[in-house]
Amino acid sequence: MRMVDIITKKRDGLALSPEEIRFFIDGYVNGSVPDYQASALAMAIYFKDMTDPEIAELTRAMVSSGETVDLSAIAGIKVDKHSTGGVGDTTTLVLAPLVAAVGVPVAKMSGRGLGFTGGTIDKLESIAGFSVEMNGKQFVNHVNRDRIAVIGQSGDLVPADKKLYALRDVSGSVESIPLIASSIMSKKIAAGADAIVLEVTCGSGAFMKNEEDAVRLAETMVQIGKHVGRKTAAVITDMDQPLGFAIGNALEVKEAIDTLQGHGPDDLKELVLELGSRMVLFAGKAERLDEARQLLEQVLEQGKAFDTFRQFIKNQGGDPSIANHPEHLPKAKYQLRLPAQSSGVVAEMKADQIGLAAMLLGAGRATKEDTINHATGIVLHKKVGDSVARGEALLTIHSDSEHIDQVARQLNQNIMIADHADKPVLIRRII
Ligand code: URA
Ligand code: CA
Repeated sequence: MRMVDIITKKRDGLALSPEEIRFFIDGYVNGSVPDYQASALAMAIYFKDMTDPEIAELTRAMVSSGETVDLSAIAGIKVDKHSTGGVGDTTTLVLAPLVAAVGVPVAKMSGRGLGFTGGTIDKLESIAGFSVEMNGKQFVNHVNRDRIAVIGQSGDLVPADKKLYALRDVSGSVESIPLIASSIMSKKIAAGADAIVLEVTCGSGAFMKNEEDAVRLAETMVQIGKHVGRKTAAVITDMDQPLGFAIGNALEVKEAIDTLQGHGPDDLKELVLELGSRMVLFAGKAERLDEARQLLEQVLEQGKAFDTFRQFIKNQGGDPSIANHPEHLPKAKYQLRLPAQSSGVVAEMKADQIGLAAMLLGAGRATKEDTINHATGIVLHKKVGDSVARGEALLTIHSDSEHIDQVARQLNQNIMIADHADKPVLIRRII
């Protein structure tokens, strides 16, 4: 088999055979297929697309390029959740202890933030002592006893994706649905999940800028799940404005604690219940969706989800008293209000630009090597559709520096006030 024939076949719009797809992935990982041929094929896939069976085979080949996690020592059906990313996306911090509290085992591998998007591990590390470092045995023990543990991404999972993603990033083929879908699903499958619930975000703060692309990505990933025998569902959500009120690491931990205590933002709570009830259903803890949702509402009201969060923090070396005293989390030196420049209704709060403002404050990383400041960030007081009077605070900037002119300018330029605006619909579609 020759790589050049595989490239020209895809260039001409034909479907590749399973053998051809494996030849490419195996060869690319072992070095016999050079970068220039791999980038040519990635570009051909960008233009000519792939059929569902091709995408499933590509995903399988990527999974078998490296190690896979064996979660069979954990009792029950393991359901993982993945979000395609967002700004102020505090979801996992609430969702993981919530579903664990109804008995769904949460053996989660999480990542760090980059650019305008945040990462769950960075957020949790705002808590003094908290660590994601543990061996496989400790991980399994925590999940078997308390139904919840979070570790960092292992370096040995899906090496094909690491190499291919880095190549796509510098050769213009990131935005290809078959390549994105196989990249995401290969990592979830290698991480050992029996079932997968996906949150596919769309809007300015998301990878997919419009709903149509988000739906196509979601449908493609659900099809991959079907082909490889993992139950998969996807929820399409609005990420045109940040999720909840808080953007920034310690600020989002506090928002998660508020939500677990029953007084968090409505949009965050709604999303967590929507995703969580599908996880509970897949895990076989309920027969119907409304029943699953009721179970989640119960453990939230009874404080069981909050207790699970406390135990989870303690298990991973963190100070559990933070749960009752979030005021002990790292705090920025200055809290500065940003007043509305006119009266009206908030019409737009561009999530990516607000995420970049938080990054300028130190809450995020511009490059992988940057360190982050856990204390800084932004807390919104208004969201799209809310009325505001001139001079009223739109948000509070949490900064370690008094000099926030650049951040304030960035925010003012990206928050629009108009005569009228509707509240956006958070849950756009279920796939
Ligand atoms: N996220 C991924 O993990 N892979 C992609 O290709 C794009 C986004
Ligand atoms: Ca938030």
